[in-house]
Amino acid sequence: MSEKLATLSFSDGTPSVDFPIYSGTVGPDVVDVRALYAKTGKFTFDPGFMSTASCRSNITYIDGDKGILMYRGYPIEQLAENSDFLEVAYLILNGELPNAAQKKEFDDTVTKHTMVHEQLSFFFRGFRRDAHPMAVLVGVVGALSAFYHDALNINDPRDREISAYRLIAKLPTITAMTYKYSMGQPFMYPKNELSYVENFLYMMFGTPCEEWKPNPVLTRAVERILILHADHEQNASTSTVRLAGSTGANPFACIAAGIASLWGPAHGGANEAVLKMLDEIGDVKNIPAFIKRVKEKDGHAMLMGFGHRVYKNYDPRAKLIQQTCHEVLAELKLKDNKLIELAMALEKVALEDDYFIQRKLYPNVDFYSGIVYKALGIPVSMFTAIFALARTTGWIAQWKELIGDTEQKIGRPRQLFVGATKRDFVPLAKRK
Ligand code: SDX
Repeated sequence: MSEKLATLSFSDGTPSVDFPIYSGTVGPDVVDVRALYAKTGKFTFDPGFMSTASCRSNITYIDGDKGILMYRGYPIEQLAENSDFLEVAYLILNGELPNAAQKKEFDDTVTKHTMVHEQLSFFFRGFRRDAHPMAVLVGVVGALSAFYHDALNINDPRDREISAYRLIAKLPTITAMTYKYSMGQPFMYPKNELSYVENFLYMMFGTPCEEWKPNPVLTRAVERILILHADHEQNASTSTVRLAGSTGANPFACIAAGIASLWGPAHGGANEAVLKMLDEIGDVKNIPAFIKRVKEKDGHAMLMGFGHRVYKNYDPRAKLIQQTCHEVLAELKLKDNKLIELAMALEKVALEDDYFIQRKLYPNVDFYSGIVYKALGIPVSMFTAIFALARTTGWIAQWKELIGDTEQKIGRPRQLFVGATKRDFVPLAKRK
């Protein structure tokens, strides 16, 4: 029994009840209300999970007021500066940074799983060429369980590990195939001598006709963006993965569910929406009119890439991506880029405006990432797919944590029912 207790008292005659309070290693305490219904016949009511911790986790920690993000205790700034994506993936999955031998083994294993079953390429051909990449990604990743059903016993740790490797290794291949398919270009097979990120860029931009050479500045930029997107505790898509996983669904099905959830413009789809918004604004001189529409909530106008449920301060990832953005634009000699000028002017206006100050709305991870992608020649419709490729690591780590959690139960929220009470069926002829 926990030493700290919360006492809930009622004004309707229900006797008061004590609930245990638990402390994490850092962050707010939680009140364990699991016995509330059994003890009182009442539920908690928390649409949007404003005050609900859905699980114990030791993967990612966010302090939203201070703008702090850590994977397994390591500040995101240090990882973005010093690590490569696979090292971060190892850390997120295993809890510790790898030593040199572990790193080599992990990199080798991922590299040797990058090819996809040849039959999968025929699966792509069922899609229209103009399909949204996220629609294709949901379908193809969901279909992986039909291709890799030799290791789908979720109760076998080795099977879970194999599926984790397969997902992390194949997502870049599948994401690039999605792009190639939309362009009508041949799929490129992965090349094992390239790094994870180089391989992804090669499969995106290489063709069989010419030699493709990686650009270290651009590779590093993408590496950094993938690191920054790798995990973010119990966000909507991760919670979707966990909810699907709580039913015992296989990991490919769970990750496909996560991809579908990420797609929405309030979540990962915001990176695409930011570019559309910047296009719509068009020019610095149109910013005041746009901000006015946002503040008046005119036609659901929103400043996309701004605001966050947890961060009530600058999202630390947005700062790092803004820095990367400048590096990429300088490397590509796009210094006087109109988009970045517009984005920075928009950010400045918003950060000085009372509407945004009072609501603590700051740029989030999606505000600047699209500008980097665009500079790299990645079409806007691919932005969220790249977010999904990076987040697959977080999703699979969270899924593994869920499966190994002895407290885990099928996710099954309840409701406050406000519909009709019992009434008798009226035959059609007698209805008015
Ligand atoms: C991601 O959760 C995660 O960790 C997600 C993520 C991850 O890595 O997994 O960080 C990735 O999803 C980033 C967020 C990307 N989304 C956007 O950029 C879309 C724009 N942002 C908003 O839709 C919104 O800020 C959310 C969805 C991100 C957060 O929503 P909340 O916490 O439910 O806040 P809210 O909608 O209740 O907003 C509170 C107030 C409201 O005003 P009032 O009703 O009080 O007058 O702030 C306003 C909102 O209208 N508001 C905005 C705004 N965001 C919130 N007003 C204008 N522009 C915005 N962007």
